[in-house]
Amino acid sequence: MGQKLRSQNWFGKKGKDGFIYRSWMKSQGIPDYEFRGKPVIGICNTWSELTPCNAHFRELAESVKRGISEAGGFPVEFPVMSLGETLIKPTAMLYRNLVSMDVEESIRANPMDGVVLLCGCDKTTPSLIMGACSVNLPTIVVSGGSMLTGRYRGKNIGTSDIWRFDEDIRMGRMTEEDQTVAEACMGRSRGHCAVMGTASSMACMVESLGLSLPENAAIPAADARRKVLAQESGLRIVEMVKENLLLSDILTRKAFENAIIANAAVGGSTNFVIHLLAIAGRVGVPLELEDFDKLSASIPLLANIQPSGQYFMEDLYYAGGLPAVMKELRYFLRTDCITANGKTIGQNLETAECFNREIISPVDKPFNKTSGIVVLKGNLAEDGAVIKPSAASVKLMQHRGKAVVFESIEDFRQRIDDPGLDVDENSVLVLKNVGPKGYPGMPELGNMGIPKKLLAQGVTDMVRISDGRMSGTGFGTVVLHVSPEAALGGNFSVIRDGDMIKLDVPGRSLLLEVPEEELQKRKKNKSPMLQGPGRGYVQLYIREVEQASQGADFGFLKGGSGSEVTRDSH
Ligand code: FES
Repeated sequence: MGQKLRSQNWFGKKGKDGFIYRSWMKSQGIPDYEFRGKPVIGICNTWSELTPCNAHFRELAESVKRGISEAGGFPVEFPVMSLGETLIKPTAMLYRNLVSMDVEESIRANPMDGVVLLCGCDKTTPSLIMGACSVNLPTIVVSGGSMLTGRYRGKNIGTSDIWRFDEDIRMGRMTEEDQTVAEACMGRSRGHCAVMGTASSMACMVESLGLSLPENAAIPAADARRKVLAQESGLRIVEMVKENLLLSDILTRKAFENAIIANAAVGGSTNFVIHLLAIAGRVGVPLELEDFDKLSASIPLLANIQPSGQYFMEDLYYAGGLPAVMKELRYFLRTDCITANGKTIGQNLETAECFNREIISPVDKPFNKTSGIVVLKGNLAEDGAVIKPSAASVKLMQHRGKAVVFESIEDFRQRIDDPGLDVDENSVLVLKNVGPKGYPGMPELGNMGIPKKLLAQGVTDMVRISDGRMSGTGFGTVVLHVSPEAALGGNFSVIRDGDMIKLDVPGRSLLLEVPEEELQKRKKNKSPMLQGPGRGYVQLYIREVEQASQGADFGFLKGGSGSEVTRDSH
């Protein structure tokens, strides 16, 4: 190790300052030799009993610590705010940027030479990576792993089934007692959602970016090999510090391209777009919404995993995991990218193998030729909107229909099941004011339910458009992330009941068939509908958050401030 350890700016100091730094560590019962010259590795832990997906992280951290100590490092675990998707109101996304600030400042302010990020539930991954990028120390990610596949009355189930159960309950096909049983059958182990939802997509993103050891994406949380990976990651981060392998060495433009290609092949979440844009913004890599479409347009869907397919994350792991998917993609990937284990993507893929072609299909005989994220533009989404074709209905990919407009989620809930609602299967449901500023926080409300009277007629999908997001576990012909959002007063804000909308996914367009003159007139009479001003963090959020097409980060958080701290207080 050539360079001086950053932590020695604390523990290696002479005089009063050094006394204070060391003495208070010793008060925890830690001997002097632990922090004299050993790499100090922070373990950023999102453990919380309010984040059930990450509730096993204290145990996982113990495995990481074993690896760090084994390699001659000194582990220090620290907490950050944890975002549990299921319990946090109004939406975990509102706090993603807040956590990224917590992570950034916690790392920079403390004596760390390297960092292990323990990520699991959806937002815990991008928030930690965004924060770490703005400091840029050697960093490795350990994901928590997915739940075991749910089993309900002889059937495999996962989070995507919640949307189906919801329709069954509304239609009286499922009783409350059935529901109680199904809840326990689905959440039967530790870990995050077992389908290719946002958490699994984030775990795949981490591995395809090169931020973790191979296999990180798919090992189930309950599988003993998850702990082995955690221990090996602890071992490896100490070496990364010695090699001075920084986040910015791994996170090149080519690495981002690999992540987009991999996300397409696994049928990853639309939320991936927003989070990857935000991460790129922190490391200063140019990445635009259009890149997602350009890079994934020729990539077929290889992983037969819900919600785009049939199987679960556990099955993906047994079939060979993400390395087996990426091996199929090797002619599309930038295989010379360096990864956390010091090897290139290409070297890591040499030993990858597929054990089940039903779950990971070969690239020349894909599970579905359609994959990825399609970026739509037009006068209804001047700065773009997205759709995930693999989770949508083929017959709705080109569709023209009359808008049925809901001004807010409360308006939607009040009227959607009204028998008098003027809606048929060709209508286009439009939900406004669920964008980043307008809600605020851009909740996952985009895959709004089908009206009860249409469900009774056997309608299972309709075109739905909003400025919000959709759970990665959701499905349907759902256009999301309309930018600019309704609260900013663009064309989307003045769409009315009965306006004709034309969706053309192959043509990448989303049009409102209303003359420009009429749109201008409507906009003149409408004032922007912003919540607030509010106070505290929410006020800051509404003021600073950018649009979904830019990653919904705060403008002032883009880039980084490095790891240097030049002033101290003693
Ligand atoms: Fe945590 Fe789905 S709720 S990953």
